[in-house]
Amino acid sequence: MTILALETSCDDTCAAVIDSEGRIRSNVISSQTAHARFGGVVPEIASRHHLEAVNLIVGQALEGAGATLDDIELIGATQGPGLVGALLVGLSTAKALAAARELPFAPVDHLQGHVAANFLIGAAKEGHGEEDAFEPPFLCLIASGGHTLLAEVSEHDGFDVVGRTLDDAAGEAFDKGARMLGLGYPGGAELERLAAGGDPEAFSFPGSRSERSRGGRGTGRQAFAEGLDFSFAGVKTALLYRLRELSEQEAHARAGDLAASYQAAIVDSLIDRTERALERTGLGRLAVGGGVAANGELRRRVAELGVELHVPPRVLCTDNAAMIASAARFGERLDYPAYLGLDAHATGERVR
Ligand code: KG4
Ligand code: ZN
Repeated sequence: MTILALETSCDDTCAAVIDSEGRIRSNVISSQTAHARFGGVVPEIASRHHLEAVNLIVGQALEGAGATLDDIELIGATQGPGLVGALLVGLSTAKALAAARELPFAPVDHLQGHVAANFLIGAAKEGHGEEDAFEPPFLCLIASGGHTLLAEVSEHDGFDVVGRTLDDAAGEAFDKGARMLGLGYPGGAELERLAAGGDPEAFSFPGSRSERSRGGRGTGRQAFAEGLDFSFAGVKTALLYRLRELSEQEAHARAGDLAASYQAAIVDSLIDRTERALERTGLGRLAVGGGVAANGELRRRVAELGVELHVPPRVLCTDNAAMIASAARFGERLDYPAYLGLDAHATGERVR
């Protein structure tokens, strides 16, 4: 079963082809740069760029796989969550391709896609090596620009949420911190580069190990501190206040320390909850996904947890269509023409 999948939930236009065993045959990603000057993704601009790029990207994915539409047996696309206008471009294109060939179609949940990146076998020509797929059961930490959660993965086609962020996503915290430090958008990778020259213990931010060891205040806070949920609003505000206290020159001179301490606080709280979830679920196996899983400090720290670990290559952590094809491989599929009325959804459960 050769699968073609599309992903257009945010600002990357992606198409990929995988084979029946989850081996990547092509994985094309076109990242939109037009949003940088706005400091965030502008939904209308994203939709327009997807429209311009999508046919080209599908063509490149087929060509890269040495395939034509004649070889494709299943088509999948992200149905949500994401920006509705952006999602509709990929979803409509995929439905149209499937309908023209009367092929089955698989609507994919974006978060299930991040989990399913772990079921892929990397393709050497994409520079991923040929490592094996990771099989359930495992705990999966998903940390992206829109979501941060801990998923208990018992099957290939779903997961149970055991912890989630109560406010911002970890990637959002990276992006907002980067913006405060005068870096471009998206800021996660840039903040990581700035942090590389800094001292992670120079400043104490909420969520960091040093801050946590001082103990919680009040019962509500205590319950949160002992739970599996995340919160990144506090660390963001703390950086804002710290920057206000410093003169412009000081802030500039200590930018590396600020970035390193800020990154450490985010990574510390991701690790803390992950460690606790591993204990509570009794799952001795961990996988990661989402754009923040491309972060070197997080990748180093999960490796220290001492459990059986699967960390996909960076290109499969950030948004891509190979992970959507992987989810399509195991998820529900609809025969022609049952999928023609499918709609995209911005948040929450699928609507049909
Ligand atoms: O999964 P993703 O590509 O898109 C969403 O589904 O949101 O994640 C994008 C997020 C952005 O917030 C970006 O800043 C963050 O992942 N990110 C990173 C790194 N690379 C991407 N955060 C920290 N360190 C990185 N190296
Ligand atoms: Zn994502």
